[in-house]
Amino acid sequence: MKVGLGADHNGFEFKEEIKKYLENTLEVEVVDFGCHSCDAVDYPAVAFEVGTAINNGEVDRGIIICGTGLGVAIAANKIPGIRAATCHDVYSAERAQLSNNAQILTMGSQVIGPEAGKKIVRAYLDVQFKSSHKVQQIIDKENEIHNAKL
Ligand code: RB5
Repeated sequence: MKVGLGADHNGFEFKEEIKKYLENTLEVEVVDFGCHSCDAVDYPAVAFEVGTAINNGEVDRGIIICGTGLGVAIAANKIPGIRAATCHDVYSAERAQLSNNAQILTMGSQVIGPEAGKKIVRAYLDVQFKSSHKVQQIIDKENEIHNAKL
Protein backbone atom coordinates (compact mmCIF):
# COMPACT_ATOMS: atom_id res chain seq x y z
CA MET A 1 0.00 0.00 0.00
CA LYS A 2 1.19 3.51 -0.84
CA VAL A 3 0.05 6.38 1.39
CA GLY A 4 -0.03 10.05 0.37
CA LEU A 5 0.76 12.37 3.28
CA GLY A 6 -0.02 16.06 3.50
CA ALA A 7 -0.16 18.87 6.03
CA ASP A 8 -0.38 22.61 6.42
CA HIS A 9 2.01 24.47 8.76
CA ASN A 10 -0.11 23.55 11.79
CA GLY A 11 0.15 19.88 10.89
CA PHE A 12 3.79 19.80 9.76
CA GLU A 13 5.38 18.38 12.92
CA PHE A 14 2.53 15.90 13.42
CA LYS A 15 2.93 14.76 9.80
CA GLU A 16 6.65 14.16 10.32
CA GLU A 17 5.86 11.88 13.27
CA ILE A 18 3.25 9.98 11.25
CA LYS A 19 5.67 9.69 8.33
CA LYS A 20 8.34 8.03 10.53
CA TYR A 21 5.69 5.71 11.99
CA LEU A 22 4.43 4.69 8.54
CA GLU A 23 7.90 4.10 7.10
CA ASN A 24 9.71 2.59 10.09
CA THR A 25 7.01 0.77 12.05
CA LEU A 26 4.26 -0.08 9.57
CA GLU A 27 6.76 -0.31 6.66
CA VAL A 28 4.38 1.45 4.32
CA GLU A 29 5.56 3.42 1.30
CA VAL A 30 4.90 7.16 1.69
CA VAL A 31 4.57 9.95 -0.87
CA ASP A 32 4.99 13.27 0.97
CA PHE A 33 3.02 16.12 -0.61
CA GLY A 34 4.29 18.65 1.94
CA CYS A 35 4.41 21.02 3.53
CA HIS A 36 8.08 20.70 4.43
CA SER A 37 8.47 23.28 7.20
CA CYS A 38 6.45 25.31 9.72
CA ASP A 39 6.23 28.21 7.24
CA ALA A 40 2.61 29.13 6.59
CA VAL A 41 0.90 27.46 3.64
CA ASP A 42 -2.74 27.40 2.56
CA TYR A 43 -4.31 24.06 3.52
CA PRO A 44 -6.63 23.69 0.46
CA ALA A 45 -3.72 23.33 -2.00
CA VAL A 46 -2.24 20.39 -0.08
CA ALA A 47 -5.63 18.71 0.27
CA PHE A 48 -6.27 19.07 -3.49
CA GLU A 49 -2.88 17.49 -4.26
CA VAL A 50 -3.52 14.44 -2.08
CA GLY A 51 -7.06 14.03 -3.44
CA THR A 52 -5.79 14.23 -7.02
CA ALA A 53 -3.08 11.65 -6.27
CA ILE A 54 -5.78 9.25 -5.05
CA ASN A 55 -7.80 9.76 -8.22
CA ASN A 56 -4.70 9.29 -10.40
CA GLY A 57 -3.83 6.04 -8.65
CA GLU A 58 -0.49 7.49 -7.50
CA VAL A 59 -1.37 6.54 -3.91
CA ASP A 60 -3.93 4.15 -2.40
CA ARG A 61 -4.83 6.15 0.71
CA GLY A 62 -4.24 9.66 2.00
CA ILE A 63 -3.61 11.14 5.42
CA ILE A 64 -3.74 14.94 5.82
CA ILE A 65 -3.12 17.01 8.93
CA CYS A 66 -4.06 20.63 9.65
CA GLY A 67 -4.92 22.39 12.89
CA THR A 68 -8.35 20.83 13.23
CA GLY A 69 -8.46 18.26 10.41
CA LEU A 70 -11.57 20.04 9.16
CA GLY A 71 -10.32 22.44 6.49
CA VAL A 72 -8.32 19.77 4.67
CA ALA A 73 -11.30 17.38 4.76
CA ILE A 74 -13.69 20.00 3.39
CA ALA A 75 -11.19 20.90 0.64
CA ALA A 76 -10.36 17.28 -0.30
CA ASN A 77 -14.07 16.45 -0.47
CA LYS A 78 -14.42 19.01 -3.29
CA ILE A 79 -12.33 16.74 -5.53
CA PRO A 80 -14.84 14.54 -7.40
CA GLY A 81 -14.82 10.97 -6.15
CA ILE A 82 -12.98 11.74 -2.92
CA ARG A 83 -14.32 10.80 0.49
CA ALA A 84 -12.23 12.35 3.26
CA ALA A 85 -13.12 11.80 6.92
CA THR A 86 -11.86 13.62 10.00
CA CYS A 87 -11.22 11.07 12.76
CA HIS A 88 -9.85 11.65 16.22
CA ASP A 89 -10.58 8.20 17.62
CA VAL A 90 -9.76 4.65 16.61
CA TYR A 91 -13.34 3.47 16.15
CA SER A 92 -14.27 6.27 13.72
CA ALA A 93 -11.07 5.71 11.74
CA GLU A 94 -11.86 2.03 11.29
CA ARG A 95 -15.48 2.78 10.33
CA ALA A 96 -14.41 5.57 7.93
CA GLN A 97 -12.81 2.85 5.82
CA LEU A 98 -15.19 -0.06 6.45
CA SER A 99 -18.51 1.82 6.23
CA ASN A 100 -17.66 4.87 4.16
CA ASN A 101 -14.72 3.81 1.98
CA ALA A 102 -12.97 7.05 2.89
CA GLN A 103 -9.76 7.17 0.87
CA ILE A 104 -8.45 10.00 3.04
CA LEU A 105 -8.13 10.30 6.81
CA THR A 106 -7.68 13.77 8.26
CA MET A 107 -6.64 14.79 11.77
CA GLY A 108 -6.04 18.00 13.69
CA SER A 109 -2.74 18.68 15.43
CA GLN A 110 -4.53 21.14 17.74
CA VAL A 111 -7.05 18.45 18.74
CA ILE A 112 -4.95 15.32 19.42
CA GLY A 113 -1.27 14.43 19.75
CA PRO A 114 0.84 12.31 17.41
CA GLU A 115 0.79 9.23 19.68
CA ALA A 116 -3.01 9.06 19.44
CA GLY A 117 -2.61 9.85 15.74
CA LYS A 118 -0.44 6.76 15.22
CA LYS A 119 -3.06 4.47 16.75
CA ILE A 120 -5.75 6.09 14.60
CA VAL A 121 -3.62 5.69 11.46
CA ARG A 122 -2.99 2.02 12.25
CA ALA A 123 -6.70 1.33 12.78
CA TYR A 124 -7.53 3.09 9.51
CA LEU A 125 -4.90 1.25 7.43
CA ASP A 126 -5.53 -2.15 9.02
CA VAL A 127 -8.98 -2.56 7.46
CA GLN A 128 -10.22 -2.66 3.89
CA PHE A 129 -13.64 -1.57 2.58
CA LYS A 130 -15.59 -4.31 0.77
CA SER A 131 -18.83 -2.90 -0.56
CA SER A 132 -21.82 -0.84 0.49
CA HIS A 133 -24.87 0.20 -1.48
CA LYS A 134 -24.92 3.37 0.65
CA VAL A 135 -21.48 4.44 -0.55
CA GLN A 136 -22.67 3.63 -4.07
CA GLN A 137 -25.63 6.00 -3.51
CA ILE A 138 -23.15 8.79 -2.73
CA ILE A 139 -21.13 8.02 -5.88
CA ASP A 140 -24.32 7.88 -7.98
CA LYS A 141 -25.50 11.27 -6.64
CA GLU A 142 -22.16 12.86 -7.42
CA ASN A 143 -22.28 11.49 -10.99
CA GLU A 144 -25.89 12.64 -11.40
CA ILE A 145 -24.97 16.21 -10.36
CA HIS A 146 -21.89 16.16 -12.61
CA ASN A 147 -23.87 14.91 -15.64
CA ALA A 148 -26.64 17.51 -15.08
CA LYS A 149 -24.01 20.25 -15.40
CA LEU A 150 -22.72 18.99 -18.77
C1 RB5 B 1 -4.78 27.50 9.73
O1 RB5 B 1 -4.88 27.94 8.43
C2 RB5 B 1 -5.96 26.62 10.09
O2 RB5 B 1 -7.12 27.18 9.57
C3 RB5 B 1 -5.79 25.20 9.56
O3 RB5 B 1 -4.67 24.58 10.11
C4 RB5 B 1 -6.96 24.28 9.79
O4 RB5 B 1 -7.23 24.10 11.14
C5 RB5 B 1 -8.13 24.57 8.98
O5 RB5 B 1 -9.18 23.91 9.08
